Amino acid sequence: MSGLFITLEGPEGAGKSTNREYLAERLREQGLNVVLTREPGGTPLAERIRELLLAPSEENMASDTELLLVFAARAQHLAQVIRPALARGDVVLCDRFTDATYAYQGGGRGLDESRIALLESFVQGALRPSLTLVFDLPVEVGLARAAARGKLDRFEQEGRAFFEAVRATYLRHAAAEAERYRVLDAAQTLSDVQHAIDGLLPEILERIRG
Ligand code: TMP
Repeated sequence: MSGLFITLEGPEGAGKSTNREYLAERLREQGLNVVLTREPGGTPLAERIRELLLAPSEENMASDTELLLVFAARAQHLAQVIRPALARGDVVLCDRFTDATYAYQGGGRGLDESRIALLESFVQGALRPSLTLVFDLPVEVGLARAAARGKLDRFEQEGRAFFEAVRATYLRHAAAEAERYRVLDAAQTLSDVQHAIDGLLPEILERIRG
């Protein structure tokens, strides 16, 4: 038996965490075991790598260092949490995964996608999410929401052009592989977003049970 791997993507301030909880509840109501997790992080060691990635620092972090740290955390998360959960037949709902690497390190930092793809295969083998929900939001809305939450982390301190590139990368990937991605308009009210999630439930359940 193998479970279902669902990832949630989008910029800061798109409501991923709230909507992840909502989707988890809907799936649990169906009697499914759901594992909620996030990247970078998801294990004690990977959370320590997350701290390195998010903490503003005097020393500029080279983009390659950032890329390798993201995949180091991912390797640990896959080994300790994601692969065991999928092997048990659970649903894994993960807040960000490798699509964020394409968006932030590829789009935002300008790293070549082929190098990201190389590490993706190295760390994940053939494993890819079965379904990826992209919470799409105009850049200025996301930045304003992140700023309202308080102190900005190392990524949130980036400028508008960085986040325009992040958004464009998510949308480009979603358009190129429509079977895997569902794009949700995160600028709507929370209840409208959750209504859209409800609309996806039959399809998600079919993927799990089918
Ligand atoms: P968040 O999960 O609180 O949104 O913060 C995680 C930050 O890490 C976010 O700014 C996106 C960034 N990130 C990457 O740059 N690459 C990645 O592969 C992942 C998973 C996250």
